[in-house]
Amino acid sequence: MTTATASDFTVPTLGGRHHFLLRRLHSLTGLVFGGYLIIHLLVNATLIQGVHPDDIYQLQVDKIHALPFLWALEWGLIYLPIIFHTIYGIWITLTGQPNVGHYPYTKNIFYVLQRASAVIIVLFMLFHVFSMKTGLFGLPKFVPGQATATVAIHLNHPVLLWVVYPLGIIASCYHLANGFWTAAITWGLTVSEGGQRRWGIVCGILGVLLFIAGIAALVGGARADAVPLTPAQAQQKVMEH
Ligand code: HEM
Repeated sequence: MTTATASDFTVPTLGGRHHFLLRRLHSLTGLVFGGYLIIHLLVNATLIQGVHPDDIYQLQVDKIHALPFLWALEWGLIYLPIIFHTIYGIWITLTGQPNVGHYPYTKNIFYVLQRASAVIIVLFMLFHVFSMKTGLFGLPKFVPGQATATVAIHLNHPVLLWVVYPLGIIASCYHLANGFWTAAITWGLTVSEGGQRRWGIVCGILGVLLFIAGIAALVGGARADAVPLTPAQAQQKVMEH
């Protein structure tokens, strides 16, 4: 008679023994991208402040584009974290990694929605980043010196305004809020049921506030004056600030 050992029940994992480390890296990269997204949507929400007397959104974009080593910041804090987070997230989903054990039965719906929102975010982000950076389907690319005008042209497209962006924003806000909730479990910060419930309330409020910021950006962008500044006006704005 043979006796089953613990290793007979081990699920094959990417990196085997390194799974523990990779799992934390997955959580960390999610938190880093989440931090970026909070700033990104808050900056975009300034579109609701309009362009008179000052174009507040353009001022924020000018400040961001004046940062030193912007390309390194973008790759280090946005692109590399999100690429790793996405690839490892797909691996976890396809192999049914044991992190599902984090969730009590009643939280299963949150778990499924986390995966569904991830799929929407990946598709949304591919479209969003490529259309902003290079221009797609006749949409102009994002021009930092003409920030409000170029974003307004994007958001004045009815399919983008009513379908693509609302979906992308809802999926992102949900994924961020639920991801921050599970991250606290991953790092052992919320152990008790009461702690998880209280942190859940905080994450829920964060998700709703972020959603409001996203909608403010959409409304502001759709209403913004889409007439580009002349080069002289753009230059004057840069000189003023
Ligand atoms: C109304 C909502 C949004 C607006 C107006 C908006 C606007 C923009 C603009 C103008 C850029 C180009 C930035 C630059 O080149 O300096 C950009 C980049 C980006 N956006 Fe959004 N965005 C919105 C929502 C989102 C959402 C929901 C996500 C999350 C999935 C997202 C993720 C990104 C990423 C990853 C980049 C590339 C990072 C960069 O190069 O700056 N955006 N967005």
